[in-house]
Amino acid sequence: MQTFEELIETCTIIIWTASALHAAINFGQYPYGGYPPNRPALSSKFVPEKGTPEYDELLANPDKTYLKTFTSKFKAVLGISLVEILSRHSTDEVYLGQRDTENWTSDGEPLEAFAKFGKKLEDIEERIMRMNNDEKLRNRYGPVKMPYTLLVPTSKGGLTGRGIPNSVSI
Ligand SMILES: [Fe+2]
Repeated sequence: MQTFEELIETCTIIIWTASALHAAINFGQYPYGGYPPNRPALSSKFVPEKGTPEYDELLANPDKTYLKTFTSKFKAVLGISLVEILSRHSTDEVYLGQRDTENWTSDGEPLEAFAKFGKKLEDIEERIMRMNNDEKLRNRYGPVKMPYTLLVPTSKGGLTGRGIPNSVSI
């Protein structure tokens, strides 16, 4: 790094990756992958080849053949449990724009920047909620009415499908 701008860019990438990017991927694992047909952990069989009895069965009953490729119930429960644990927030989680120590600095400039950043995050949360409730946005609202919440910065503890922790813990 040669310039102050490069330092800002690098810090921004690190903060984004360890907070929002990770949250967008991580906290939807249970809501999406907790139902194994949505995202089987692994398939224990090859895709049937043409001319085999398995291929004929696939043509006759695709659902049954698909389900046969799944892991055992025991492994499926292990997989479901794992994504449930990974998708949970601890009750003492510190979210992006929050601090767990009140007097982390007495320096005015960073305090001001931090307050400005927190306000921006509040605006983003409001914007996401507004878009989720807009019936014209079919990718947000949709027929199942499952709102997109993964990039909502705040959350309670537990399994919420929202909340951006300050940093990755696992
Ligand atoms: Fe993770």
